[in-house]
Amino acid sequence: MVKRNPSLAKLHSGYLFPEIARRKEAVLVCNPQAKMISLGIGDTTEPIPLTIVEGLKQGAINLGDVNSYQGYGPEQGIYSLREKIAEVFYNQHLTPEEIFISDGAKCDIGRLQLLFGPQVKMAVQDPSYPAYVDTSVACGQTGHFDEEKGLYDGIVYMRCLPENNFFPTLDFQADVIYFCSPNNPTGAVATKEQLAQLVAYAKQIKAVIVFDAAYAHFIQDPFLPKSIFEIEGAEEVAIELNSFSKIAGFTGVRLGWSVVPQKLCYDDGQSLNKDWNRVTTTFFNGASNIAQAGALRALTPEGLAAIYDQTKHYLVNAHKIKAAFSALNLPCFGGEHAPYVWVQFPGKNSWEMFNELLERYHLVTTPGSGFGPAGEGFLRFSAFAQRKDVEEALGRLKSLRV
Ligand SMILES: Cc1ncc(COP(=O)(O)O)c(C=O)c1O
Repeated sequence: MVKRNPSLAKLHSGYLFPEIARRKEAVLVCNPQAKMISLGIGDTTEPIPLTIVEGLKQGAINLGDVNSYQGYGPEQGIYSLREKIAEVFYNQHLTPEEIFISDGAKCDIGRLQLLFGPQVKMAVQDPSYPAYVDTSVACGQTGHFDEEKGLYDGIVYMRCLPENNFFPTLDFQADVIYFCSPNNPTGAVATKEQLAQLVAYAKQIKAVIVFDAAYAHFIQDPFLPKSIFEIEGAEEVAIELNSFSKIAGFTGVRLGWSVVPQKLCYDDGQSLNKDWNRVTTTFFNGASNIAQAGALRALTPEGLAAIYDQTKHYLVNAHKIKAAFSALNLPCFGGEHAPYVWVQFPGKNSWEMFNELLERYHLVTTPGSGFGPAGEGFLRFSAFAQRKDVEEALGRLKSLRV
């Protein structure tokens, strides 16, 4: 029999969301009438705007006509979509050849590990979106999991707490730095000055930044950077990931993109863009042509206006959630330019607070400790919900005393 991949065997079991589901089911067994409301997972709830649906439909219709049928497309994506992304998101500062269309940011996070290989040391924000750490472990970059500390050997955990404004101390050695802004789960957004420090630090230690901008469109303040490439010199040290998931309700449609600049080189001067092209053409066979037709429609003026309206819907939810916890005098963060509100419950641990909200208020949230040890004592509230559910949940919480 084949031996188990030792790197996969190191992977701490996917504990967070199955455990949340288990606890929710246990409460429902005792209270079958309970009306559960979820402000837990970061999945979109609003339908895809009709103008974008029309683009998806047209993409499907084209496949049913011999004159417009297309089979495999380019692995890097339809050229006109790469051009459009360069125009809409990067003001033509990047070329279409630096943009690669994918089946979503999570898939790119996984494939990026193939680009870097097992020999690199990664640094990750603590707390963070779990895919960075899990794909690093699966790719063989780490040692074992320390159950007590909740950390893997061989990874640098950059603690992001209210005390440091969720921006880490830059005093470590690493080859690849994962940085997500607006951040999942804390909702923190890095300023231009902070990103400039990050870029300068990456240059100093000769690291590559993987900048996850999946929530960039939630940024409303024009002075806050939506892309790492707004920082001078970032093309020499950074890769950027983005996605249509939260922009256009494409979490199930699946479409994203990565940016790997031509100027980004290894220590021997070879190009990362060339290798990423090789990884893309080897491990991926191109994104769905229907999804790409939808994305092209999403980037028209009507599509962008519809995206803006939908973003506003989630942001209003986030503002309401934040206002409710502020009124309860609890320290809460994010939720201004991000769909997540990060609430601290002094003196309580995350799972205790999760249980209390679940059992007493029938409200599902996400325990902060599930995103890394620095998330202990916090809960993440997601604004991806229908307005009526947010209002009902917040109404229930009025009697909360911590
Ligand atoms: C920070 C972050 N990056 C990436 C993703 C995955 O995005 P996609 O749906 O494009 O795979 C998510 C999804 O929740 C996320 O929170």
